[in-house]
Parts: sequence; C-alpha cells; structure tokens
Amino acid sequence: MNLRLDLNDIDAEHHVQLGLTQALCAAASYGADETRTQEILDQLVVYSDMHFLSEQLLMRLSGYPDYDSHALQHDDLMEQLETVNQQYSSAGEPFTLLKAKAILEFLVNHIGAHDRRFIDYYRDWVRRSAADG
Ligand SMILES: [Fe+2]
Ligand SMILES: [Fe+2]
Repeated sequence: MNLRLDLNDIDAEHHVQLGLTQALCAAASYGADETRTQEILDQLVVYSDMHFLSEQLLMRLSGYPDYDSHALQHDDLMEQLETVNQQYSSAGEPFTLLKAKAILEFLVNHIGAHDRRFIDYYRDWVRRSAADG
C-alpha cells in the first residue's frame, strides 16, 4: 500500500465532499428542482459513507487513539444526512438552505479539527513506521 498516496486521497475526498455540500447549499438557495436536489443529496450520502469508511480504515491501521470519538462524529453526520434525505424524499419536507448550511458547517468543522488532528497523527505514524524499517 502506498501510504503517502492515501493522505492525498483523503484531501481529494474532502474536496469532493465539500463540493457536493456546497452544491447542495446552492441548490437550496436557488430552489433547484426536486430531481437535481435529490441527486446531490444521494451522492453526498453515498460519498460520505465511502469516505468515512476509508478514513476509519486508516485509523485502525495506524492505531489512532481517538478512533471512537472520531467515528462517533462520522455516525452523527451520516445520521443527519439520512434524516434530511428521508424527510425530503419520503416525507416531502422542503430541503432548506438552513439544513444545507448546518451540514456544511458540521463538515467544515469536522475536517478542520478532527480530520486535521488525525492527518497529523497519521503522517507521524507513517514517518515512525518508515524509521523503524
Ligand atoms: Fe473524519
Ligand atoms: Fe474526512
């Protein structure tokens, strides 16, 4: 496994994840049609699930000590996303800019604090592993 590539992958995945969430904010603010909004929401749910799993895999691999609290944050966001998606697709509740912005805010904070901390730890771990041979 190319460990250096994995960190680049995480950064790239964050860009996609944030891009989708910003697209969701834009859709909510200009009142995009239902199909388009649903499409972005579905993509964000699937993509976030995949991203969180791959991040958690790297945490397991490197013995990250804050795994549990970090994974709880992932679960929390997935729950928020699935609730909003469910309300929109099944219950017919409107998807508001307020909801989109709450998701964006959560994600920005998560990436800026929790993911940053893990990435720093992981980079050190890779360095230590390389030094140990
Ligand atoms: Fe994370
Ligand atoms: Fe992340």
